[in-house]
Amino acid sequence: MPQTNALALALNAELSADGCLIYNMLSQRGKTAYFPSKGILGQSAEAKSTTINATIGTAIEEDGSPLSLECMEETINLPSESFLYMPSFGSPKLRTMWRKLMVEKNPSLAEKSFSQPVVTSALTHGLSVAGYLFLDPEDQVILPDLFWDNYELVFTEAYGAKLKFYNTYDGDSYNVNALAQALAGPVGKKVLLLNFPNNPTGYTITQKEADEIIAVLKKSADAGNQVVVLLDDAYFGLAYNDEVIKESLFAPLADLHENILAVKLDGPTKEDYVWGFRVGFITFAFKNATEVQLKALENKAAGVVRGTISNASSISQATLLKGYEKENYAEQKAQKFAILRRRFDKIIEVLAAHPEYAESFTPMPFNSGYFMCVRLNGADPETVRQVLIKDFSTGVIVLSGLVRLAFSAVAHTKIEQLFANLHAAVQKVKG
Ligand SMILES: Cc1ncc(COP(=O)(O)O)c(C=O)c1O
Repeated sequence: MPQTNALALALNAELSADGCLIYNMLSQRGKTAYFPSKGILGQSAEAKSTTINATIGTAIEEDGSPLSLECMEETINLPSESFLYMPSFGSPKLRTMWRKLMVEKNPSLAEKSFSQPVVTSALTHGLSVAGYLFLDPEDQVILPDLFWDNYELVFTEAYGAKLKFYNTYDGDSYNVNALAQALAGPVGKKVLLLNFPNNPTGYTITQKEADEIIAVLKKSADAGNQVVVLLDDAYFGLAYNDEVIKESLFAPLADLHENILAVKLDGPTKEDYVWGFRVGFITFAFKNATEVQLKALENKAAGVVRGTISNASSISQATLLKGYEKENYAEQKAQKFAILRRRFDKIIEVLAAHPEYAESFTPMPFNSGYFMCVRLNGADPETVRQVLIKDFSTGVIVLSGLVRLAFSAVAHTKIEQLFANLHAAVQKVKG
């Protein structure tokens, strides 16, 4: 095993100083992670205002501006700085902007301390950075049995972690007891993943369920467990009824317990409808965290970014920042939300108008996000999926024995037909 770099050792010392427990939550890889502040990037930063700067591997025109092809410049229509690298931590301005937006979207964060978000290449990469930092082979990630299937590649195939499932629902409610049972067992490190609004169910917990989960986590931390809570907030903000929590669980978990590290993975991908931009954020918080400790976690995360993708797209970061600074950003976002909400309302209306659909399928609880799921009654989901494509020109996803409907991707005018087709396909398969 190679020796741990001195910079990593310094970060580790900070994360175990004064009884801080975060060091114990890191994986072996996480313990070796550091941002190479003394390498090319650090030396380039020190040389930033020199007259002759022969440090970084970008190229300049004779006048000192970034060297770039005019055809690219015309197409992109952003300042030429967008052709240069962004820091591995991400655009400083975008990080500040996202932090500000986080507080606007989660007002109770205003009083709390949490790290500056570190930019990743969207949420998948953010989840992978979290896996790198916190998961050793054979570690368990505790999550509901209805989950985004890419967690298998991100956590299991890449880091050798095992997924440990609990039943998502207890009737129409989130199964907090099952979550508590999954957390039980020998005292030690626990890694939990929570995703609200959830993919595939489109479910977000109610305030009561959130309070129960918070109590379960606190109890587990009080019992001496070191709990890393990964919050996949990909669909944050898309809640369609008043009962569901409006703030991320990151806010209450940020200062819940010294034994609980909250790791927020979020970004504009789904929230701001920029799937191809590939920008996301990883943000850390724990009770009584010092600035230095939060910076240490940022350094480790940025070190992983540096070692995997080096840095996220400059063009995307610059574009997002420009968009967020526009006066009409909030208004336009609200308009797009209204489009999704209208589809959600339409589904509720269609289901209420067609009690006969119960012969074919039962909707699972849903209240948010891009999706909903139905359980088929008496027909094999895969067979129905194929019949839907062949005979009804309708595409759906089958997973975990359920049919997932992405209403985000279906026009309001086609919602009624979608359910009629599903019903007809099930009836056809049932013969
Ligand atoms: C729950 C969940 N998390 C993360 C992601 C990945 O998002 P990104 O495209 O930003 O990597 C998705 C995308 O489908 C998702 O459904």
